[in-house]
Formats: sequence, structure tokens, C-alpha cells
Amino acid sequence: MSQRTFSIVKPDAVRKGHTGAILAKIEEAGFKIVSIKKMSLTDEQAQGFYHVHSERPFFKDLTKFMSSGPIFPMVLEKDNAIADLRKLMGATNPANAEEGTIRKQFAASIEENAIHGSDAEDTAAFEIGYFFAGYEVK
Ligand code: PPS
Repeated sequence: MSQRTFSIVKPDAVRKGHTGAILAKIEEAGFKIVSIKKMSLTDEQAQGFYHVHSERPFFKDLTKFMSSGPIFPMVLEKDNAIADLRKLMGATNPANAEEGTIRKQFAASIEENAIHGSDAEDTAAFEIGYFFAGYEVK
């Protein structure tokens, strides 16, 4: 069944000029890009997005990194989108990511790992709503 997920091309990948190649991989894997934009987050906006991780030791580094430059947040659609995008992204730590995954190809470290993808239906709904108004994801 068709499903939507939320993704971000992170600041490291944008800085290195990998946005187009990452989007191509996503489209080649069968995802439709429902909505996409280029923007920068303040540290406070990044903290709001990652609020579930606020007690984790890397929280400050994560929000500082995510507000360090432009990002491309996007809404993606396909059958089984949430799980399929996580598979295409590869492991959080690129050292553990499988060949052919986005993080294996484009991520430098666990801190700068190129792409975000929602991990469940409820987080996808929150994350889409955090970045996009209803009329932008028709
Ligand atoms: S995951 O993908 O949610 O299962 O991974 P998790 O380990 O729970 O990590 C949650 C997000 O935090 C990022 N992360 C880190 N950032 C900086 N430093 C360290 N050490 C670190 N470890 C994990 C990780 O990339 C996840 O960000 P998102 O944007 O969700 O991918």
C-alpha cells in the first residue's frame, strides 16, 4: 500500500554537492518526490525536530550539525516507503552500512551521515507536519 515518509538531505551532503545524486538514487528506487524545499534550520528548530533525542549524549552536536547549513527536507511516497527508505539509506553509522546504500556512498561518519529518514508512521506524520503545510503535501 502506498505510504509517505519524510527525509532530509543533511548539511554535509548538500555542502559536498551530493544532493542531485542522492535524489537520483531515491527516484531510481521508485519513490515519488511529493514535496521538497531548500532551507536552513536554526539550532532551536533542529532541537524541536529531534526532541525525542533530547536526553541523548550527542543531542547538542546533532542539532548544531543540522543547523550548520542548508538542507533539503522532502516528503516521499511509494509502497512500504518508511522501511524501504531506511533500507536504501543504510546503517546510521556508515562504517556499518551495506554496499549500494546512500550512507555507504555519501556519508563520512555517524555524525555527518548524509540523510535522515523517518523510522515509523507516527514519526513520519510528525516530521512531515514539522516542515510542510498541508497545502504543500497534497
Ligand atoms: S536511528 O536512525 O534513529 O535509529 O539512530 P539513532 O542511533 O537512534 O540516532 C538518532 C539520530 O541521531 C544521530 N546520531 C548522532 N549524531 C551525532 N553524533 C552521534 N554520535 C550520533 N549518533 C546518532 C543519527 O544520525 C540520527 O539522526 P537522524 O537524522 O534521525 O538520522
